[in-house]
Amino acid sequence: METGLAGKVVLITGAANGIGRATAMAFAREKAHVALIDHDVTGLAEVAGQVREQEVNAFTAEANLATAAGVQAGLDAILRQIPEGPDVLINNVGGGDPKPFLEIPDEQWEAMFALNLMSMVRVTRRLLPLMQQKGSAAIVNNASDLGRQPEPAPADYAAMKSAMLAVTKSLARAEGPKIRVNAVAPGPVWSTFWSRPGGFAEGLASIYNLPPRQAVDHEMKLRKLPLERLGNPEEVANVIVFLASDLASYVTSSVWGVDGGSIRSL
Ligand SMILES: NC(=O)c1ccc[n+]([C@@H]2O[C@H](COP(=O)([O-])OP(=O)(O)OC[C@H]3O[C@@H](n4cnc5c(N)ncnc54)[C@H](O)[C@@H]3O)[C@@H](O)[C@H]2O)c1
Repeated sequence: METGLAGKVVLITGAANGIGRATAMAFAREKAHVALIDHDVTGLAEVAGQVREQEVNAFTAEANLATAAGVQAGLDAILRQIPEGPDVLINNVGGGDPKPFLEIPDEQWEAMFALNLMSMVRVTRRLLPLMQQKGSAAIVNNASDLGRQPEPAPADYAAMKSAMLAVTKSLARAEGPKIRVNAVAPGPVWSTFWSRPGGFAEGLASIYNLPPRQAVDHEMKLRKLPLERLGNPEEVANVIVFLASDLASYVTSSVWGVDGGSIRSL
């Protein structure tokens, strides 16, 4: 099947690891050029090298996407390399620090807002006018199944992902018919999001009073996923690439679960 992505330029935030990195590789295999922003310089250099092995361009910028100044600097650096802007925007950057509700201070709520919601708002606000100049364009936002079906924790992260879905729908209505706007809502996907110090595995470990890996297994049992396992980043990347491609030409304003079956509602 023809994705129509060859020669297109795809900008991915949070592209140095996990789902963003797998997504960069998946687009490169479709012969799309990629523009990658992350604060992890080493990871960025690695993924850019792997992308170039597919004989497409990889433009990179190091930036902290959780601040307005960081987004501006990162996009300034990328737009010097691709002044016409991207054909496809993947708002992927995000993260959480799971804590019970009573232990989440204002500072963490504000940090979750800045990283998970305002990064997407700021990046999209800057790039949208350029994307509106193109014949067609696509945006895919990386939300979470927790934004559709919250668990006891983390309430802060889930709330930001719910807000991201609301903005996805709003933008899809505003920007049609030229720009399609969709979201993926991944379930648990094993990446540095879980495994890094202070990541989801350690957060659950302190909530359940278990070692990190056992805490993750415990959480998976509670969630009763029909597919009975965590996903991997490539499984989310495949759906992101589909949504950005011509194969999804009649798909906009949708939220695609990539979640092992976690969502129970119709
Ligand atoms: N892994 C999961 O289980 C899961 C589930 C649902 C949704 N998601 C969402 O998928 C997206 C990607 O998650 P992942 O699992 O690949 O996570 P990850 O932690 O493996 O990767 C996130 C990337 O974002 C970068 N990043 C983090 N903060 C940044 C900042 N302030 N500025 C610039 N770059 C920054 C990191 O360096 C990293 O490269 C996130 O939005 C996350 O909320 C993940």
